[in-house]
Amino acid sequence: MPDTLTVRDNRTGKTIEIPIEHGAVRATAFEQLTAGDADHGLMLYDPAFMNTASCTSTITFIDGDQGILLYRGYPIEQLAEQSTYLETAYLLVHGELPDAQQEAEWRHDITIHTLVHENVKKFIDGFHHDAHPMGILLSTVGALSTFYPDATQIYDEEQRRISIYRLIAKMPTLAALAYRHSIGLPFNYPDNDLSFAGNFLNMMFKMVEQKYRPVPEIEHALDVLFILHADHEQNCSTNAMRSVGSSHPDPYSATAAAVAALYGPLHGGANEAVVRMMERIGSVDRIPEFVAGVKAGKERLMGFGHRVYKNYDPRAQVIKRMADQVLGVTGTSPLLEIARELEKIALEDEYFVSRKLYPNVDFYSGFIYKALGIPVDMFPVLFAIPRVAGWLSQWEESLLDKEQKIARPRQVYLGGGRRDYVPLDKR
Ligand code: CMC
Repeated sequence: MPDTLTVRDNRTGKTIEIPIEHGAVRATAFEQLTAGDADHGLMLYDPAFMNTASCTSTITFIDGDQGILLYRGYPIEQLAEQSTYLETAYLLVHGELPDAQQEAEWRHDITIHTLVHENVKKFIDGFHHDAHPMGILLSTVGALSTFYPDATQIYDEEQRRISIYRLIAKMPTLAALAYRHSIGLPFNYPDNDLSFAGNFLNMMFKMVEQKYRPVPEIEHALDVLFILHADHEQNCSTNAMRSVGSSHPDPYSATAAAVAALYGPLHGGANEAVVRMMERIGSVDRIPEFVAGVKAGKERLMGFGHRVYKNYDPRAQVIKRMADQVLGVTGTSPLLEIARELEKIALEDEYFVSRKLYPNVDFYSGFIYKALGIPVDMFPVLFAIPRVAGWLSQWEESLLDKEQKIARPRQVYLGGGRRDYVPLDKR
């Protein structure tokens, strides 16, 4: 049987045969079907990209029905257990795991870029003390473009490399600056003797001690969370990165757009929303009332459901297991008991079962962040720090893809026809 699709346009009787490649047909093939001179060809209408592939990619694979997530072929569970965030970032960007020398060079190249220009501190000072740190992050990451004008040379491989080092290295620094500003404490400089996660904890929490020493279990848990959040194929913020990147701005500007996309409560803001939701529920005995409200359509159970996963999100499995280890060090959380009970009730309830709504990555991550002493409004920032590795890998892949052009969707126009302007005094 040929790998083709035969389409007959019943308006005209015309039949076309379209090749099927990698389980997809090209939407432009349908342009051949027109119903008259004024018709520019049949379009495919797909709000929210429910069934449209916007690119080919070799970075991340998800099987939403089976609950499988692979970065460059490696299962997320193995990376979470055996890799580090920086090594995983190398894998995403380069396509292969580094050998020992490559790993050492990569770690060095990222680590020497952790400082930001002193002027960044000045404009962070201009934000209100209660400014949301995600707003600060998206502004400051975009502002970095003004410090590195050569970054606009996106077809110069050397420039792309250095932008990638800088962005991966400086995201934790900007995030910690935003946090320290919000609580009115002096900024901490990076400590390049520490690991990526350890240095972030240092910039967040160092007080007057000479040297900050992270608790190993906490440093490890944070690194695992960074691995789990490093990429997730064509999600809303990655699509923003690719789409904005397609008009060829520098990567700092494109990353600011991706951070903005991640800010929303339906995407990276969900972990914050989950904890606020649990706080509102307050106790296990109030769960049934809350679930009834969700089922009546009053609100969503945050941290549940996913556009792609119609099974347990494999990242949520890892985080759920890790929650016990972390809380063993930091002390238990009453909110976690509510979360566990809520999950149990939801997974047995027909409403959630029939819609294939399972816990996603955000259902448990917030509790770990909270146990680590990270304030709730920093949660989406904690998602953005590692996701920049995925965004940059996808951005570079997109730039080097000969088939990509400026992203510019079509529309189905439903407005009125042409009409003449009527002056104000005649209306
Ligand atoms: N609580 C209650 N009902 C839900 C939920 C939920 N969390 N998610 C989906 N539904 C229902 C929805 O009402 C609809 O029901 P019906 O068919 O009766 O109208 C059905 O399930 C399908 O929902 P949808 O809105 O068509 O699904 P979607 O693929 O457009 O949305 C989602 C995916 C993640 C936006 C959605 O599940 C949601 O809002 N979840 C809560 C927010 C959240 O946890 N987001 C984090 C996503 S994972 C991290 C990331 O990658 O960003």
